[in-house]
Amino acid sequence: MKKFYITTPLYYVNDEPHIGHAYTTILADVISRFQRKWGKDVYFLTGTDEHGQKVQEAASKRGVNPQEHANEYVERFKNAWTNLDIQYDYFIRTTDNNHKDSVKKVLDFLHSSGDIYFDEYEGLYSVSEERFITKKEEEEGDYREIKKIKEKNYFFKMSKYQDKLISHIKNNPDFIQPESRKNEILGFLKKPLNDLCISRPKSRLSWGIELPFDKDYVTYVWFDALLNYITGVGWDEDKKKFNHYWPANYHLMAKDIITTHCVYWPTMLMACDIELPKTIFAHGWWLIDDVKMSKSLGNVIKPLELADEYGADSLRYYLMRNMVLGQDSTFTLDSFTKRYNDDLANDYGNVVNRVFVLISKFFNSKVPSPGDYNDIDYNLIKEFELSVQKTYKYIEEFRVHDAVETIFSMIRSINKYLENKAPWKTVKDFPSDNEITATTLYVSIECIRIATQLLNPIMPAKTKTVLNAMGVEETENNLSYGIIKPKQNIESISTLFPKKDI
Ligand code: ME8
Ligand code: MG
Repeated sequence: MKKFYITTPLYYVNDEPHIGHAYTTILADVISRFQRKWGKDVYFLTGTDEHGQKVQEAASKRGVNPQEHANEYVERFKNAWTNLDIQYDYFIRTTDNNHKDSVKKVLDFLHSSGDIYFDEYEGLYSVSEERFITKKEEEEGDYREIKKIKEKNYFFKMSKYQDKLISHIKNNPDFIQPESRKNEILGFLKKPLNDLCISRPKSRLSWGIELPFDKDYVTYVWFDALLNYITGVGWDEDKKKFNHYWPANYHLMAKDIITTHCVYWPTMLMACDIELPKTIFAHGWWLIDDVKMSKSLGNVIKPLELADEYGADSLRYYLMRNMVLGQDSTFTLDSFTKRYNDDLANDYGNVVNRVFVLISKFFNSKVPSPGDYNDIDYNLIKEFELSVQKTYKYIEEFRVHDAVETIFSMIRSINKYLENKAPWKTVKDFPSDNEITATTLYVSIECIRIATQLLNPIMPAKTKTVLNAMGVEETENNLSYGIIKPKQNIESISTLFPKKDI
């Protein structure tokens, strides 16, 4: 079995998850579920980033210590992911003891190999980004809470790996995706790379992992957190697991954190002589009124509130359908309810309901036995074969919205097919011989099964209801035509997506 290892960023526990965090995590879940369907051995890692100044500040605001704060807030993430039907394989917290031990091992190794050294530095520190920024970055004005800081610190010799990194990016066209992000990073790498400050004196920040070679310092939040991608897959405990899954197939994130992932992380791996991940993929931002949705701006939509009202499936569907991977997308309640009503209630919900009702009414709730097929039947079956291949290709190419659109055009084709063949009419026109009607309804229910199986990674709950009602396990992976056995009982189901008033 081929392996597939996918990660999300580790989210800061300074606040609860919003639509942006839910999006990346749902995307990783959808891709994972498709890959499992395609027969891959999937490892999906997510978790929380619990050290650093932001978390320390959030805790002190609430008057609790940072560990207590993290223990409470991590539950909000886990709870959100459960409610959004996200099936990760492992949830890592940067305060886990085994993660901390592994980080210390890496620090010790780099210190003794000479890639970590002590020096004095003066620079601009952005609390909102939790890193030192350059003069140019300050001028561009994208960073908040900037402080000038002069202190002695430990540095990682990142500059030493600059040329190696540039050639890796150039020789591996898939390493940074999409292309626009790759060019951004190559642009950034045209200037000489500074070494990376990887420590904070405890006098300034105490909430972190202590350096094994200097107890007056903790390690820098990003140095600690990035290592999760190897510590969360057994780098230090289970070599067999690590060797099986590493290198990661995909590190997913939004474009806000590509410098840390495309520059810091690969050079850290180079210094440790560990293979680089295959692809770092940065999607765009969810915007509200044209500005980024973010906790510091306070313009967030809470995913669980939407999921409570419309169901997790509807939210998952909307997020996958409305963002072209790589581009920004604006979230509005109008576009959300429109998708819900048009695609889910009208197109999908309707066709399922129609076919289930016809089979129950005219065939006593048993799957009818098909007779001879005509061109209209063959055309639909052929279209489905091609669309299944297209969906596969789109998922492999990370064009999730195109995959969703393909599946929905399949659904709309079943609706057209029914209009065309009018089983409600043929059943009355040929009362003694209902073979034509039986064929129509068999083709329809089979096509509903195939489309529903393809929708399953996106909407796991509702599709399970539909598949189980036709006697098919939701784990069934056979996407070719002709699986449902005639005479199979069809259970009735209630309205899948009741229409909502806008
Ligand atoms: O950066 N649109 O954590 P974070 C789309 N702890 N995605 C969004 C988004 C938006 N408006 N807002 C957030 C950190 N995200 C570090 C990461 S990794 C080793 C350490 C998602 O809590 C998106 O995936 O600020 C983004 O990259 C991530 O949340 C940032 O989460
Ligand atoms: Mg952030």
